[in-house]
Amino acid sequence: MRTHYCGQVNESLLDKEIRLAGWVHRRRDHGGVIFVDLRDREGLVQVVFDPERAQLFAEAERLRNEFVVSVQGTVHHRPKGTENPNLASGRVEILAQEMDILNRAETPPFMLDEEDVNEERRLQYRYVDLRRPVMQQRLRLRHQIIAALRRYLDGQGFIDVETPILTKPTPEGARDYLVPSRTHPGRFFALPQSPQLFKQLLMMSGFDRYYQIARCFRDEDLRADRQPEFTQLDIETSFLNEHQVMDIAEDMIRHTFKEVLGIALPDRFPRLAYDEAMRRYGSDKPDLRNPLELVDVADLVKNCEFKVFAGPANAKDGRVAALRLPNGGDLPRSEIDECTVFVARYGAKGLAYIKVNDIAKGREGLQSPIIKFLSDEALQGILKRCGAANNDVIFFGADRAKTVNDALGALRLKLGQDRGLVKDGWAPLWVVEFPMFEWDEKEKRWIFLHHPFTSPKVDDVSAMQKDPGGIRSRAYDMVLNGTELGGGSIRIHDQDMQSAVFRMLGISDEQARKKFGFLLDALKSGCPPHGGIALGMDRLVMHMAGAPNIREVIAFPKTQTAWDPLTDAPAEVSDVDLKELHIRVQLPPSAKDGGGS
Ligand code: AMO
Ligand code: AMP
Repeated sequence: MRTHYCGQVNESLLDKEIRLAGWVHRRRDHGGVIFVDLRDREGLVQVVFDPERAQLFAEAERLRNEFVVSVQGTVHHRPKGTENPNLASGRVEILAQEMDILNRAETPPFMLDEEDVNEERRLQYRYVDLRRPVMQQRLRLRHQIIAALRRYLDGQGFIDVETPILTKPTPEGARDYLVPSRTHPGRFFALPQSPQLFKQLLMMSGFDRYYQIARCFRDEDLRADRQPEFTQLDIETSFLNEHQVMDIAEDMIRHTFKEVLGIALPDRFPRLAYDEAMRRYGSDKPDLRNPLELVDVADLVKNCEFKVFAGPANAKDGRVAALRLPNGGDLPRSEIDECTVFVARYGAKGLAYIKVNDIAKGREGLQSPIIKFLSDEALQGILKRCGAANNDVIFFGADRAKTVNDALGALRLKLGQDRGLVKDGWAPLWVVEFPMFEWDEKEKRWIFLHHPFTSPKVDDVSAMQKDPGGIRSRAYDMVLNGTELGGGSIRIHDQDMQSAVFRMLGISDEQARKKFGFLLDALKSGCPPHGGIALGMDRLVMHMAGAPNIREVIAFPKTQTAWDPLTDAPAEVSDVDLKELHIRVQLPPSAKDGGGS
């Protein structure tokens, strides 16, 4: 049906007769001549219909946007002055000799070059939306990235193994998607939150190096970089330590950036301990392109009369931190108020600040609602530690450490963005030395930071039990430009340690047996030391494509409410189906109207 792709027609084909097939992107009538931009996956080319061929011309007059046609014609230079430097085919045009309308199209729901089309509408007509050149580029880039990753792993001796989708819950910290069983009344499969346990079992089976482009399912609150189903590049290895696993993962990402984008990432990604990341950035996934940093000042305000500061400064889990915004002295009061409202979303009860007008004048040169509570010594100490200069503004957070980190960490990102301080480029790093457990004050129990199969940094069970809060794990996260791209760890390969960790997490031996008996048994069957990582493909592609969220790099994503406007899934099912599954539906009053969005 065709000899060439539209987007690949160029001067090398001058005077040749060619045949193209594609979509009418645009039709323009110009003084008796009809121009059609014909589009296929490679791009556009201009086709000219000359009125001298009356029948063909009349056919061309019937063309509308998105009609599918095949055209035969000869390649000519465009007349001088009418070239389009933005198109690969922009110096030539096709003089049409023959045309078949292969299919007509209704008026599209939106124009392909229309900007700011409502996202729900784009998702409802995704098959049209995906015709847009930018979407074609994104999905092709995704293909190239995944192909490069596969090539790299194949070269390193990794074996691609598929694992089940209908399975038992794998605790990764989200809610499970459940699938009722018809053949086992009252029982449910869970869709995997990750292939975690299966990849560990594959190590016990001796595969040594496994990978999989794996679909994972998590029923959690959705955000710009979260989808209910998403794709991981999942990796597991035997007999390697954490440094060796990180080296492979890092080399793989470097190789992929080089091959696909021609970009050289740093030869060794910086490695930052979790505690330091929290201290300096208030986050375990810091964007290192942003120069702003948090500074601890608790020791300087321990004895001040300002209870808001002195309280957390003396509390065990408290933190008082400062965030200096260079040249922020021009921030009007209204913007400071806006920042105060912003940090309140993260639980901060206020946002104290000091504007540095003239540092040489001491207290007189400062402007702030709180300096009256602070001694000269404390003020000088704060200014010095922050490296303050004239025309800076310094913000403060004082609360439980978690609240201060969340609030000032987010404010750091906001100010960096708003003030244009974030540098261009790529800032990959590893965050390491994670705590093994975190105390959940609400539930009054230890919870895991990574997942319960991660190995602690201690070998024996009693050392772990002695100081659960102080123990570090053998986990690592790969971070890129402020996004957690991937996470992994060296696993527990000893059954006693695994049982002890379950107990620490409040999982009784009986529950552990029921949920993870197969793992505990397998650990006793000759289990090699092993560890791995999983990288979020949607997030990686989003960054490499420069897309604003992961929905832009997924062919058929769900909305923020986990709904698919294209197919209108999830859908109701018939009573017959429900009966077969032994299920009765009881709707909450709020859901009685049904419907998706
Ligand atoms: P983790 O839960 O950290 O680790 O997930 C690994 C990576 O998967 C991506 N990711 C997501 N991407 C889009 N939408 C989501 N809802 C979503 N959730 C996670 C992130 C994240 O870094 N089994 C372990 C890995 C291991 O230990 O080897 C795991 O799944 O980029
Ligand atoms: P107040 O005495 O409550 O009026 O607070 C004085 C200043 O401290 C105001 O600028 C508040 O925004 C700020 N502030 C109050 N609570 C906190 C807090 N927990 N952390 C940082 N600043 C606070």
